[in-house]
Amino acid sequence: MALIELKDVSKLYGFGDATSVALDEVNLTIEQGECVAIMGPSGSGKSTLMNVIGLLDRPTHGNYHLSGKRVSRLGSNQRARLRRDKIGFIFQSFNLLPRLTAVDNVALPLLYKGVSFTKRVKKAWDLLERVGLGDRAYYYPRQLSGGQAQSVAIARALVNDPQLIIADEPTGNLDSNSSRLVMELLSEIHKTGNTVLFVTHNPELTRFATRVVYMQDGAIKYDEQTKLGEVGRYARSVMYAVPETTEEDDLAGVSVLINALHQQAAPKAKKKTARAKKTTTKRKRVAK
Ligand SMILES: Nc1ncnc2c1ncn2[C@@H]1O[C@H](COP(=O)(O)OP(=O)(O)O)[C@@H](O)[C@H]1O
Ligand SMILES: [Mg+2]
Repeated sequence: MALIELKDVSKLYGFGDATSVALDEVNLTIEQGECVAIMGPSGSGKSTLMNVIGLLDRPTHGNYHLSGKRVSRLGSNQRARLRRDKIGFIFQSFNLLPRLTAVDNVALPLLYKGVSFTKRVKKAWDLLERVGLGDRAYYYPRQLSGGQAQSVAIARALVNDPQLIIADEPTGNLDSNSSRLVMELLSEIHKTGNTVLFVTHNPELTRFATRVVYMQDGAIKYDEQTKLGEVGRYARSVMYAVPETTEEDDLAGVSVLINALHQQAAPKAKKKTARAKKTTTKRKRVAK
């Protein structure tokens, strides 16, 4: 049984002439254990799709089954309960409460669940250690870097042991090092058995996914399986230059570009020369 099954799901906003179609008869099935990257231009419906799947919002038309249960017509209280028990959210803006320490932010969802103080704190501490922030438990959000704040948010998303993690542009506010750290955490969570959906504008981050879904105008345009560690094929085609493996990440952008330029300029037989030149360039850069 699929974890997520959307059948002809549409989401409309507004009325009459002002109606906008955020989701246009989307069909999507996601199995337990997948790690899906969602890409697509701004306004293509990525967040709406995440909100519908995450039970924050209800589709206007169509059916949604979560773990075999029809959830598309549930009222807000029932959706809230399912969300609490099954789904962890991570947002671009971290959404931490500024007046609570890291450990209290992580423990907060357990308070709503009626878990005792000792158990709450213990669980929150364990999770902060898991995301590498055991020594920042009593820091306030403003005392943390962006990457650390997002790691706290990830710990909080995990506190109810959710089956499904939904991250809407989790690295949207982070520099490339913090982005990688956050994606590595999400990847670890995926490897321990969670299903993870994340929205990204960065094709490079599709390396962490087992599948990439591309949206356009509220519909799914491409949907491809990818190998962990590799950039999605379509994602690669929209990138300026990207290597196929993670080897020599820092140099790769440059070398691939050089390679591409040589291939453009030279007929096939000269490929070898291009590659040799590429290596020389790399060495020069390393030597710098
Ligand atoms: N609450 C809302 N009210 C009206 N229109 C909305 C609302 N949320 C999203 N939309 C519209 O739905 C479309 C998809 O938005 P969204 O899902 O946020 O796209 P993305 O996350 O891919 O940028 C856009 O045209 C947006 O303007
Ligand atoms: Mg969005």
